[in-house]
Amino acid sequence: MKRIVILISGRGSNMEALLEAQVAGALPVTVAAVIANREDAAGLATARARGIAAQCVPHQDFGSREAFDAALAGVIDAFTPDLVVLAGFMRILTPVFVRRYEGRLMNIHPSLLPAFPGLHTHERAIAAGCKVHGATVHFVTPELDHGPIVIQSAVPVLPGDDADRLAARVLATEHVIYPRAVRWFAQGRLAVDNGIVRVDEADAQQFLLIDA
Ligand code: GRF
Repeated sequence: MKRIVILISGRGSNMEALLEAQVAGALPVTVAAVIANREDAAGLATARARGIAAQCVPHQDFGSREAFDAALAGVIDAFTPDLVVLAGFMRILTPVFVRRYEGRLMNIHPSLLPAFPGLHTHERAIAAGCKVHGATVHFVTPELDHGPIVIQSAVPVLPGDDADRLAARVLATEHVIYPRAVRWFAQGRLAVDNGIVRVDEADAQQFLLIDA
């Protein structure tokens, strides 16, 4: 069984979707730990209530990004994960950290990358007049919100949408695609060929499309 460590900064709904999939038998992994960079991350309590080792490495205790990332890597490595899963982890990671976990560090970003890397993706998609928007699970590379795309979800942008309504529509799809992506990794089905992710599974759907 592959071991995963999940990194969060807040609510942790993607973490919960992963834990639920695991409990339901749909995600063959051991969740070794949940780690947050803030003690007030609501997801820490959720993880603890489910009996998962949950720890905080407070970023403000460190004098530099490098020092924080080194301490974080030390805590992660103690759990010997095969895959590190970023689930709403709101810290920019140093290239040294990213390279350490190359090929075994995944992120979910709330846009159809390469559109809208960075923050406020839902506001920006509405302001740009986008008719579809979505989320992307990708392997992490040193460039922010970049890297080989494992799976994407797309939802319509509807008249009258504000950022919150659109975010909620996208988030519901995140909870479907992230467990699917992690399952593929856990089953050894993912291969990255020249930056393109392929899935070794019959009828694998690397997309989720939601109709209006
Ligand atoms: C999600 O929208 C995720 O795509 C983004 O941050 C948000 C985290 O939400 N990276 P949650 O903490 O998983 O509920």
